[in-house]
Amino acid sequence: MSEAENLCDIIIFGGHGDLAFRKLMPSLYHLCSDGYLNPKSRILTVTRRAMSLKKHIELVESKLLEFLEEGLFDEKKFKDFKRRLQVVTVDLANEESYKVLKDALEKYPNYQRVNYLSTSPDFFASICKALDRWKLITKESRVVLEKPIGHDLKSSQTINQEVLKYFQERQIYRIDHYLGKDTVQNIIALRFSNRIFMSLWDANNIDHIQITVAESVGVEGRWGYYDKYGALRDMIQNHLMQLLCLVAMEPPCSLDANSIRDEKVKVLRSLRPITQADIAQKTVRAQYDLGTIGAEMVPGYKEGEGVSDSTTETYAAIRVDIDNWRWSGVPFYIRSGKRLKEKNSEIIIVFKPIPYSVFANKGRCISQNRLIISLQPDESIKLKFMNKIPGLSEQMNLQQAELELNSSINESRKFGAYERLLLDIIRSNPTLFMRLDEVEAAWRWTDTILEGWAENIVPMKSYSAGSCGPSAAIELIARDGRSWYDE
Ligand code: BG6
Repeated sequence: MSEAENLCDIIIFGGHGDLAFRKLMPSLYHLCSDGYLNPKSRILTVTRRAMSLKKHIELVESKLLEFLEEGLFDEKKFKDFKRRLQVVTVDLANEESYKVLKDALEKYPNYQRVNYLSTSPDFFASICKALDRWKLITKESRVVLEKPIGHDLKSSQTINQEVLKYFQERQIYRIDHYLGKDTVQNIIALRFSNRIFMSLWDANNIDHIQITVAESVGVEGRWGYYDKYGALRDMIQNHLMQLLCLVAMEPPCSLDANSIRDEKVKVLRSLRPITQADIAQKTVRAQYDLGTIGAEMVPGYKEGEGVSDSTTETYAAIRVDIDNWRWSGVPFYIRSGKRLKEKNSEIIIVFKPIPYSVFANKGRCISQNRLIISLQPDESIKLKFMNKIPGLSEQMNLQQAELELNSSINESRKFGAYERLLLDIIRSNPTLFMRLDEVEAAWRWTDTILEGWAENIVPMKSYSAGSCGPSAAIELIARDGRSWYDE
């Protein structure tokens, strides 16, 4: 289908919220500027605050200036973009107040409707119910759910069941924005279009895998949300699990949405549950204290927010085991935290050592091969391997060398994850969205850790803001005779 045919109303509930201004509007602005939106498609912001269209447009303009990368705001393009903007005032909890939305949507009954719920999950059910009550859901309507969907398996099932009363599964787009990142999709390309990895990608050849998503930022004004969730629910249950699935899954039979999601869900179902007996050995939770990032003094998590009794983790590290033929015996070490030294996300595939060394020192200087997939801040794929140091020395001396695959092509700017995902929703392509069974399988595994942590079996550790995380995370991997590669 050409972009011109994707005629739709994009309705953003919670449209004056942080996500809408930081990510959704800038992405829609880019899609519009690059000709991916049908010229007649509209963007309707649903907000609680009464606001004239003129004021709304001014607000969107100021937020675009704030959140678009420098130099990317263009007066002429904004003129075209603002034509599409609409604003309606709705009290999300009050069904009657949706009448204005009905009036706005019914002016264009043949438009497809993308309902983006950029609100707390507490409103998902009432929004869907009100849309149904006013007969605003058509066969082509879609609903987009932002994570986190629930705070454990039970609450996520409740939310999903509510939404499923009004929308069919094929109409539901559950966002995990990591799947919109180009390098993340590149994992599929790397694994399934290169023969050389085919026979190496298993327990015979891989020693272990490390997945790190480190952030230098704190909770950025989202304390009210974050303190109820913490690193395990906010990052591990979704973003890191999705990365793990893409690395670990079997080849799908095609690239269609269900083939890929079928393979991911098999991985999630093969995760070995972390029991109360091994939770202290396999998991670490920690909260940051006062420290320095760059030249800036940063208060500790509790001091910064003025709460002395929060027990929310801002860092988590876990040893994950996958019980299946391919991965039996290959641990995945995953970690994520806020207020760390620097922003850095990468996946490191560490290959087994060579079986026997013919070199001097019995091969002690031979590093294991590593494939490093960097997601941010820079996107790259590197292979670390050994080669000879050139020269005439009597002994053959080795050094570690690096092959780098830089896949960035000459684009004038980087495409954001939300651009890709919004466009896929408009095109009705659900491949990069989480299916119900995936979300549930990820929660099922996470729940056992949450339960153990609630029982206080794993003590809360601390780390200084600006450091590499708690020493307990180093001990977690050192127990298995390994160490983190902080490249
Ligand atoms: C979000 C989390 O899903 O991802 C945030 O809620 C986190 O806490 C963010 O900061 C990280 O995203 P990215 O793309 O900057 O790595």
